[in-house]
Amino acid sequence: MPEIHPSIRELDILCAETRAPSCGVVVFGASGDLTRRKIVPSLLRLYQRDLLHEGFYLLGCGRQELSDVAFREHLAEALDGRGVEPALREDFLSRFYYTSGSYDDPALYAALAARIEELDRTHGVQEAHVFYLAVPPGLYPTVVDHLGEAGLNRVAGHDCSRPPRLVVEKPFGRDQATAEELNNRIGRHFAESQVYRIDHYLGKETVQNILMFRFANTIFEPVWNRNFVDHVQLTIAESVGVEHRAGYYDTSGALRDMFQNHMLQMLTLATMEPPASFDAEAIRDEKVKLLRSIRPIRVGGPWGPDILRARYTAGRVDGRDVPGYLDERGVQPDSQTETFVAARLFVDNWRWKDVPFYLRTGKRLARKLTEVAITFKQVPHSMFASVGLADMPANQLILKIQPDEGIALSFQAKRPGAKTCISTLTMSFNYSELFGTEAPEAYERLLLDCMLGDPTLFSRQDAVQVSWALLAGVLEAWAKAEAPLHEYPAGSQSFAEADRLIQADGRLWRPLGDS
Ligand code: BG6
Repeated sequence: MPEIHPSIRELDILCAETRAPSCGVVVFGASGDLTRRKIVPSLLRLYQRDLLHEGFYLLGCGRQELSDVAFREHLAEALDGRGVEPALREDFLSRFYYTSGSYDDPALYAALAARIEELDRTHGVQEAHVFYLAVPPGLYPTVVDHLGEAGLNRVAGHDCSRPPRLVVEKPFGRDQATAEELNNRIGRHFAESQVYRIDHYLGKETVQNILMFRFANTIFEPVWNRNFVDHVQLTIAESVGVEHRAGYYDTSGALRDMFQNHMLQMLTLATMEPPASFDAEAIRDEKVKLLRSIRPIRVGGPWGPDILRARYTAGRVDGRDVPGYLDERGVQPDSQTETFVAARLFVDNWRWKDVPFYLRTGKRLARKLTEVAITFKQVPHSMFASVGLADMPANQLILKIQPDEGIALSFQAKRPGAKTCISTLTMSFNYSELFGTEAPEAYERLLLDCMLGDPTLFSRQDAVQVSWALLAGVLEAWAKAEAPLHEYPAGSQSFAEADRLIQADGRLWRPLGDS
């Protein structure tokens, strides 16, 4: 691991990291993939960084019958290779318990209530409970209703000081109507302040840094508008395919899986107005305002669509041959599901009027790459035209989200020598090189915030509703097959129609690079 860079003096680092209070976390769907791959490793990192309270425990819940010991064994392999000392590993795992039952059986919730009371006493939990829905979305209403009916939605009789929180994984509905239905259902039992809707992109360090970058500096905000910005490109490209999740993905597609949530969240952070304070509601208010300012998306008409879809065919990614989407295990033979969405959006407000935002997200592309790229306008007049330098590249600012996390700013400078030569230079920094540490896993931050009761990085009900409303026309047109489903070979950079969308405006997608 590289040393922390000398240019970052201790005094320069403003840290506001708070330890979790005593807390019992109850995970529904605990024997599943999410618990093993994300939740447990993230809790381990918090534990290693001393951010978990001594009064912490996790009570897993699932249909599969498991003893506490078997549950710990099942989780143990998720800790392998993470450099945990044996004593710490044992202590950490000893905080995991399991209760099995059927999600629609009131007896399960009665058993949970009794177990929570017992474990609270064993671990001295006095402050918080978190209920985490890591079950398939079809089960959310069942679990939520039963939690409410068992009284587990309220401050427990044995005096936990904060109301319990409910963590809901995406997908949060599959359109405006189902999202509203789910919100109403949850709202019967839990107040909005108790509901934590996860969008794991908001837990990524570099996504959060968009806010710091914009609002903790004075030099960028004055140029962060239509007077200086030519256009913005937002990219979430993945080289992976649907993996083992075809059952879910084939009923979802890139628009629901990535665009409605992760892409629109990145867009709002990059474009919203400065909130008055770093306060959950102030930030979430600005995000909703921004979402409401997005111009309705054209799916067709005389000017052509502003949004396009495609799916991958067989190709080559990361040096190996991979099947097309229709040949993935679990995909329906007549599937019309898109794996790539490209769009041009506009934000109709004073700051952004008529600045195009080009968004693209796809699976099985040439390379994994997530970034926000801001291209500024060209100089209004080139005084170097007389020496043959009329067209100079515009300045670009790239907020690199993953896999190389950092920021790069390109500008023109004189190349050394007697002649008038201009080169494009890039000033860049890389997080892990500079801070000497790997960025924390997104879930780490989100789980900690949830235990602390800080909802800043979670989606509020109105934001979810507005984002679905924005996509309502697109979902409808696509469901009726009113727009073509294009194709691209796996390993591509893009697809032809998406290229034409941006080229029609005289611009190009930024290259993804090679795998
Ligand atoms: C999830 C999607 O929300 O995000 C997946 O359901 C996608 O389909 C994943 O692969 C991407 O997350 P990340 O953190 O790897 O960029």
